[in-house]
Amino acid sequence: MNPTSDKLFDLTGQVAIVTGTSRGLGQYFARALAKAGADLVLTSRKRETLADFAAEIEAMGRKSLSLELDVRDQSSIERMATEAQAAFGQIHILVNNAGCNIRKPALQVTWDDWNQILDTNLRGMFFVSQAVARGMIAHSYGRIVNVGSVTSVFGFAGLAPYGASRGGVRQLTMSLADDWGKFGVTVNCLAPGWFRTEQNKILYENKEWVDYISDRIPVKRPGQPHDLDGAVVFLAAEASRYITGQTLLVDGGMTTGSTRATVAPKPLMQSLHAEQAV
Ligand SMILES: NC(=O)c1ccc[n+]([C@@H]2O[C@H](COP(=O)([O-])OP(=O)(O)OC[C@H]3O[C@@H](n4cnc5c(N)ncnc54)[C@H](OP(=O)(O)O)[C@@H]3O)[C@@H](O)[C@H]2O)c1
Repeated sequence: MNPTSDKLFDLTGQVAIVTGTSRGLGQYFARALAKAGADLVLTSRKRETLADFAAEIEAMGRKSLSLELDVRDQSSIERMATEAQAAFGQIHILVNNAGCNIRKPALQVTWDDWNQILDTNLRGMFFVSQAVARGMIAHSYGRIVNVGSVTSVFGFAGLAPYGASRGGVRQLTMSLADDWGKFGVTVNCLAPGWFRTEQNKILYENKEWVDYISDRIPVKRPGQPHDLDGAVVFLAAEASRYITGQTLLVDGGMTTGSTRATVAPKPLMQSLHAEQAV
């Protein structure tokens, strides 16, 4: 690519795999990439659930290929990567979005809960990356975007295994970036804040929680899925060519932590403001 390219955000002619596109953020990521010009490989454990979304992508004038993928099954991962590669010849972009969560106080987490979350969010992400990177390395080009979370950098009660998996995603991102940078493959982590999807709709149905969380977000609202469009296209495109191993938090500023300080008891805030005024 020409270093002075004016097509910094243009994905025309490129092919992106987005894992977990049967619903939720995966569909938003895929739409944003398609809008920027990319053809799409869509995945789900139940391929038939992708039909409507595949039609939507094709109506945008892009090609789509729907494949079955269970990231907890190594042969399923290998099959998906082989079929995607065979269909398109080259895969330019991989968005590792497939993931799951189980919310429980730490004392109630079972052995199986832990395995399900870590196998899906961390082990699955590694082996999907490995399977797809083989082809990217052969073409000396690739953009891998690993979906993390604010729990990649913060602790949250009730999310111990999930947070461990997302912290691992951040570390995995740095190690893979170091491994594959020399082959022209960048690896970054896109870490969303709180977005309303199937996975967390129970939280959004609770007004008290929405008020609580909004108060801790500097821009004063939870995320809307389209808030992620710019970040995913950026990390998938020429524009981010010299960025690798990084975690980009798209969280309305939540992880600055600063908003927590402003919810201190009123008398304390008043005396702090009085001191600042001096
Ligand atoms: N929503 C948020 O606020 C938020 C914030 C930070 C990070 N995230 C992360 O972003 C990703 C998408 O979140 P979401 O809220 O859109 O979740 P979601 O609505 O629950 O969707 C999860 C997707 O992952 C797929 N998936 C789950 N287990 C899988 C497995 N074993 N193999 C392959 N695919 C699997 C599902 O596909 P099938 O069931 O069709 O197979 C589905 O398409 C997740 O990794 C999530 O942890 C979400």
